[in-house]
Amino acid sequence: MRAYLMTLAAAASALTLGLVACSNNPPTSTEPAQAANALGAAAVTQERLLKADSEPGSWLAVGGTYDEQRFSKLEALNETNVANLGLAWYSDIDTERGQESTPVVVDGVMYLTTAWSMVKAYDIKTGGKLWEYDPKVNRDKGSDACCDVVNRGVAAWNGKIIFGSLDGRLISLDGKTGKEVWSVKTVPEGTHHTITGAPRIANGKIFIGNGGAEYDIRGNIAAFDAETGKKLWNWFAVPGDPSKPYEQPELVEAAKTWKGDQYWKLGGGATIWDTIVYDPKTNLVFFGTGNGLSWAQEARSPGGGDNLYVSSIVALDADTGKYAWHYQETPGDEWDYDNTNPLMIADLPMKDGKKHVVMQASKNGFYYILDAKSGKLLSAEKYVPETNWATHIDMATGRPVENPDARYSKSGKPVIIWPAALGMHNWHPMAYSPETGYVYIPVTVSNAAYDALDNFVYNPNGWNTGTDFAGGASLYTKPGAPPRGNVTSYILAWDPVKAKEVWRIPNKEYGASGLLATSGNLIFSGNHNGEFAAYDSRTGKELWTAPTQARVVAAPSTYMVDGQQQVAILVGARGLPPGQTRTVGVSANNSRILVFRPGGSAMLPTALVAAATPSGKVTISPPLQTANNETVAAGEQAFAANCAVCHGVTAVPGAGATAPDLRYSSLLPFKAQFNGPVRAGERATRGMPGFGNMLNEETTDAILAYIIKRANDEKALQEAAAKQ
Ligand code: HEC
Repeated sequence: MRAYLMTLAAAASALTLGLVACSNNPPTSTEPAQAANALGAAAVTQERLLKADSEPGSWLAVGGTYDEQRFSKLEALNETNVANLGLAWYSDIDTERGQESTPVVVDGVMYLTTAWSMVKAYDIKTGGKLWEYDPKVNRDKGSDACCDVVNRGVAAWNGKIIFGSLDGRLISLDGKTGKEVWSVKTVPEGTHHTITGAPRIANGKIFIGNGGAEYDIRGNIAAFDAETGKKLWNWFAVPGDPSKPYEQPELVEAAKTWKGDQYWKLGGGATIWDTIVYDPKTNLVFFGTGNGLSWAQEARSPGGGDNLYVSSIVALDADTGKYAWHYQETPGDEWDYDNTNPLMIADLPMKDGKKHVVMQASKNGFYYILDAKSGKLLSAEKYVPETNWATHIDMATGRPVENPDARYSKSGKPVIIWPAALGMHNWHPMAYSPETGYVYIPVTVSNAAYDALDNFVYNPNGWNTGTDFAGGASLYTKPGAPPRGNVTSYILAWDPVKAKEVWRIPNKEYGASGLLATSGNLIFSGNHNGEFAAYDSRTGKELWTAPTQARVVAAPSTYMVDGQQQVAILVGARGLPPGQTRTVGVSANNSRILVFRPGGSAMLPTALVAAATPSGKVTISPPLQTANNETVAAGEQAFAANCAVCHGVTAVPGAGATAPDLRYSSLLPFKAQFNGPVRAGERATRGMPGFGNMLNEETTDAILAYIIKRANDEKALQEAAAKQ
């Protein structure tokens, strides 16, 4: 899995806020004017994608160009004038879950995906919404998504907009109207598979994988015909039942790296849920594979082994899906070190001459550079010094030299390992400027105490990490123990050739956000402090910031409108930035698309002070307390364990809370009505999970008593204040 440990099982609203008027005008063409052609909207061809860098007025694919450097040759905006940027337009997004997609801009139209795999198209001149499409993913599916019901974007091709839906469909829409052209299910029915990544396209083939490696899933990637959705080839990342013929010849060797029978019975994991890069020079498709199922290796492959192709970078022939090479970054992974975070192609001036490489700032804390054609390891150095699961990579064998204590499931001893499952860098896109020669990486430094579960039994309905998240906590109380968990985060400028840190920009608030680099000596990034910012790409100096009223995790894109360079960023992630109240009662995270232009003077709505209370209600009128102190104390504990994550510690929703202030709830006097959302899951599709299967009634009664106490505390405070 890729991100946080979380309790969400739930969902978002389908309310359309649409502050920007809906426009039905057909998309107008924009620079470069020659771009529009007979195909009409989304007129992206192989020819155009191959030359995407000579068409910087557009942003033709999520990664910008085939090399996915997220670098724009535009320089109209630069270090001398970026401070003049202002808001051009914005549009509210009709879901309060995480927004992770990079806007794609073709011939005057911006296409993006939102949480719940919805697609929107906007006129880039006016910000008017041209069309939107909702694949109507069953909201129950939300519980299969480890790390929110997100989507990272579309692929534009031959008049179509193609994307994956959370429930595993690949869907092609008419770029002009948003009407469905075809839809195919890419995963078996009734499984835990999810799609959150953006499809990639080359020569009429769409490449897509899926996620879900904490469940019974066998990682795979497949290619589909862009015109019809017909499946063209498939590649499995883990060998299947050894009594049957293997689907691919390399799986014969891979099977020798596994032990026991759990892996093929359960699937083994190694899901391909984010990065997929097509390289026109080698005609290879590169991608990374995820963690093994379970994380603890002894539970999935008793006695060890490398467990191919878990936690690897793999190259396949784009036409046939035939295996070309692989490099396993974390053999026999047991720390959840997926390799699915962004890959990038570049021509680097390495010590022994120019090399065509594929590279990655891995979750595991090392920066890897591989020869794109052969897969030969050229460089592997720690880009985050705290990394301690391995001391270094032996360049002769290409294998990590592990910390002898790191294998907790073998030793049976808990151990603090850097990084934690979140990784030193996750899916958040990095950027590379061939002009500075630096890679810009959103780094999150973390550690965790890993501990194997004593009696791991596979649970078909839950997570299967084989680890005990509470285990090892006492290690942090020992003298000299590091601070626990998420320690620090920053934007790192990394010189990949010298394998050296150049500088870093510390984040004001912990968290990672995607990056964009430009020829105007700039990098752009949002942050978790509620800002979108520009920095000098040579020095890291902050040059400009604008408020976002939301946490930002997605990466920006840039393009031209009427001779002017603009920058777009999708904002909104779990929780609000510090000090930010909701602007709209129903929107928990102020998800929006924001577009900036020189001299822009649009304004975000001002914050509504009372918005954190349900339906804007400001009077507090709780029932009298009837429960005894023991019950209230039990309720306090159960609230902290089950509810505080969303409703706020001590039932006061502070910064970051995604749910209403329960002290003001009109349901408090009515146990049966309170139990509607709390036990029966009546509001599950709005993000309030039902606890009927997890907590007994005595516990939820105690929680209700505790909330009533907290409401009466608040009422007394307000009355005392009013008397003064
Ligand atoms: C994953 C986040 C999350 C968790 C955990 C969570 N809630 Fe909620 N809860 C929400 C959201 C979001 C809403 C608002 C739903 C809506 O807009 O209808 C909500 C609404 C409610 C409401 C309805 C309030 C009203 O006046 O309409 C109650 C009651 C409630 N939650 C109680 C609880 C209790 C008790 C727990 C712990 C046992 C809990 N919640 C845990 C997210 C959460």
